[in-house]
Parts: sequence; structure tokens; C-alpha cells
Amino acid sequence: MFNIAKAICLLFCLSVLVHAETTLTQRDPRIIGGEVADFGDWPSTAALFVTKKGREEGSYICGGTLIAPRWVITAAHCVKGEKATNLFVWLGTTDLSDNGGGEGIKIKKIISHPQYDEATFDNDLALLELEDISNVKTMPLFIGDAEEGTPAAVVGWGARNINPLTGEGFNPSLQLYELQLPIVSQTQCKLIMEDLQNMGPVTDNMICAGTGLGGEDTCQGDSGGPLMAMQNNEIRLVGLVSWGIGCADQNTYGVYTRLNKFSKWIESSMEAESNNDSGGGTIFWMLFPFFVLLLTYKIRRIG
Ligand code: ARG
Repeated sequence: MFNIAKAICLLFCLSVLVHAETTLTQRDPRIIGGEVADFGDWPSTAALFVTKKGREEGSYICGGTLIAPRWVITAAHCVKGEKATNLFVWLGTTDLSDNGGGEGIKIKKIISHPQYDEATFDNDLALLELEDISNVKTMPLFIGDAEEGTPAAVVGWGARNINPLTGEGFNPSLQLYELQLPIVSQTQCKLIMEDLQNMGPVTDNMICAGTGLGGEDTCQGDSGGPLMAMQNNEIRLVGLVSWGIGCADQNTYGVYTRLNKFSKWIESSMEAESNNDSGGGTIFWMLFPFFVLLLTYKIRRIG
């Protein structure tokens, strides 16, 4: 009797374990792979839209990240040939459907990296100066190099399915998806990607992420969006979705703009622009002491 009870118990435990194992391995690897982000997660993630002439609504083109109250960073290839006045960003929501909330802000100026190379996607980054400041949380840049194996996260509204003929993605999502991927060493990425691709090398301005196992990757429409990792107990921006060969294929990785290489350019471009914006004010304050002197001189003479 006791043995039968033991056997039943053992069987039960085993079946629970097997079930847990299969649900874990069957979990739909979803971006390509990953899962829907919770509303309120990834607050700094921006959706970039281009307005179609004569229409109120725009169409979604790329992802981006708010790195300062007035600045979104995205990929240069996303805004190539676009006019600032035709663009806006949507911030503060994971849900791009009509009643998904969030705020839309127009773009005042596009600053693409001057050495952005269309052929190789080298230096694939652009700064978007917003017309108004956003109150959404900003994301700091990752300092130094994110090492091989660092767990990173990517998010995007990009393709969720792959065309089997072209290997390219289609069917973008109104919901933001998130996915975890490890950072890949530069040697490994060069070895794999430079063998496959016909676009140009994996340069030092690029960083790769992925498992190489297939099924999990960023894809068309995720471009410009963030590759992030933890540093000092906060999530920081490591890279920008830039390119890949197809999406989520075995033995390939996603290639991202390595932001660490551009921290100086980013800082100085934002600063130069802010100084420009307050240009009139600067001259006024420079001349202010002279006005005061002149005034006191006049008052003394009158007195
Ligand atoms: N260039 C694509 C875009 O404009 C991003 C492709 C990323 N591909 C990849 N396999 N990780 O959206």
C-alpha cells in the first residue's frame, strides 16, 4: 500500500517536472522572439514617425531612445533623406494603437553622424532635436565596453515574422516587444558576419548581440531602437539596432551601433546645438555689464 502511494507520488512529481520543462522549451521565442513589454516598461524608448503629406497620422519608421529631455538618438539610416519637419517621435507608451496614450513631439533638427556610410552602415547614428522637452525618463549611455556575454535587452515595434523567401521581416507590431540577448565578442562577430555579408566589414564602431541559435533577433522596423545593459544598478544604452543578414537565422548576429565610440560626438553635438539655440541670449549677457556701466555713468552725470 505504502509503495503504491510512493509510486503515484513519484509519477505525479515527474509529470510536473516534464510539463515545466516542455513549457519552458516551447516558449515561443519571439521582436523575432521575446515577449510583449509591460506598459510603463522601457519609458525612454521612442517610436519615430514620418508624416505623410496631407494626412494627420504618420507612419512608423524606426525606434529611438530619449537620452536627454530634448534629444532622441536613432540610427542614421532611419532618417536618411528625411526632413526634420516631416518627422515626429512618440514617447511614453509601449502601445502604438490609437488609444495607447503617450505624447507626440515634433523634430526641430536632424544631426546625422557626418561619417555615416550608407554602403557599410558604419557610424550609423543620428541625433534628433525635439521641438519641446519631454518629461519622460531619459536613458544614460553605457560607459566603457559591454563585454562578451553581458546580458543585454533589445526592444522594438519591428517585424514579428520573416518572409521565408527573402529572410527579411514583415508584420510590424503595435505592441512593443522585448528580448534578452548576450553581447558577442568582436572576433566571433567578425568571423561569422564578415564571411556571410556583402555589405562591408563589422567595424570597431559596431557591436554584435545574439545567440547564433536562430529564432531570436531584432528585425526590420526595430532599427534605431536600443540595445541596453545594466550598469551601476540602472539600465543604460549600449547600442542602436543597425543591420543584420535576414533576421534570426542560425549562425548570424544582430549588428548594433557601438555608442561607446561616440560619447564625445554625442555630447558635443548636443551642447553645440543648445548653445546655438540660446545664441541671442549669450550675446545679451556678454554685453550686460556694459549696459550696467553705461547706466551708472549716466545716473552719476544726471546726479
Ligand atoms: N535595418 C533594419 C531596420 O532598418 C534592422 C535590421 C536588424 N536586423 C537584424 N537581423 N538584427 O529596421
